[in-house]
Amino acid sequence: MNISGLLIYWYVENKRDLPWRNTHDPYFIWLSEVILQQTRVNQGMSYYFKFIENFPTVFDLAGADEQTVLKTWQGLGYYSRARNLHYTAKKIAYTYEGKFPQSKKELENLKGVGAYTAAAIASFCFNEPVAVVDGNVSRVLARIFEVSTPVNSTKGHKIIEQMANELIKGVDSAQFNQAVMELGALVCVPKNPKCSLCPVVSYCGAYKNNNVKDFPVKNALKKPKSRYFTYLIIVNEDKILLRKREGKDIWKNMYDFPCIENDTEKENDEIIKQIMQYDVLADTAFEIMDISKTFLHQLTHQSLYARFYYLKTEGINGQLPENVFWTKKNEINNYPLPRLIDKYLKNSFLNHQAENGLV
Ligand code: ADE
Repeated sequence: MNISGLLIYWYVENKRDLPWRNTHDPYFIWLSEVILQQTRVNQGMSYYFKFIENFPTVFDLAGADEQTVLKTWQGLGYYSRARNLHYTAKKIAYTYEGKFPQSKKELENLKGVGAYTAAAIASFCFNEPVAVVDGNVSRVLARIFEVSTPVNSTKGHKIIEQMANELIKGVDSAQFNQAVMELGALVCVPKNPKCSLCPVVSYCGAYKNNNVKDFPVKNALKKPKSRYFTYLIIVNEDKILLRKREGKDIWKNMYDFPCIENDTEKENDEIIKQIMQYDVLADTAFEIMDISKTFLHQLTHQSLYARFYYLKTEGINGQLPENVFWTKKNEINNYPLPRLIDKYLKNSFLNHQAENGLV
């Protein structure tokens, strides 16, 4: 048997029983693939179930309000994916009468649907012979064929894609794609691959030459940019100031707190000075009740360092900016919150304040 046949044979015998593998419905496949670009299978499963429960059809997702969609996505990060999901659901529901396009090329025209997702939908649902290329596929093929071009370069990606598109010819494209991904997820894993269990080990160049650990070759990633956030938890009795994030930055349309940002780390004295001059507070008297530890939140290209200053006030002197408003403390969780904020809230002073009798 050739490589493709062996991979498919192995897949049929060894595949995990995952919910999106029991359907050819492009809506479910699309949801699962977008979620799985953001997280691993185990965590992805609960989000997948949450999405199909809240929005059983593309029409339900299209008709939902954005806040509900973001709330369902909460915790996965990279919220533009959720906004694109919503946008594209509306397009499919209202322009295409609920029917997904069937070819990779047409699918790629949908917002948020890149080459990977388009190939996944076209092959899993409509059997188009197009290869998917994700991290798993790149690693498997880079090892088998000892690809020396970095797989995270445009050229390397093209090489892998061409190889995969050769291998997919003449076999069941849905099964082939799933098989390569599954091999990457279960056997040809990044560290300590289980070569003794590999169905295509006899074809593997890297194994033959005893240099599996040297593949895939990758370009070093750029160092992430550091940002230092001083979050102000401004409280007046049972109310707290919340801010809707607007503009182009991270977390658009999600909610956090008024914040002072610096691009270097500052001493506490300097932070206090900045708080006193902060325009939202507008000379309001406050008492600092708590300063949190520093939370590190790692995004793909940014390292966020956040500290939360808990300020007790008797209200705010000046007029609030349009995107900043009072809400009840116990209603914060009704808003879509970035994971960083959620992490703070879960183990924060705010959570323990009632016990402490401080507020
Ligand atoms: N990762 C990305 N897509 C996947 C799929 N369809 N099954 C399992 N893992 C995946």
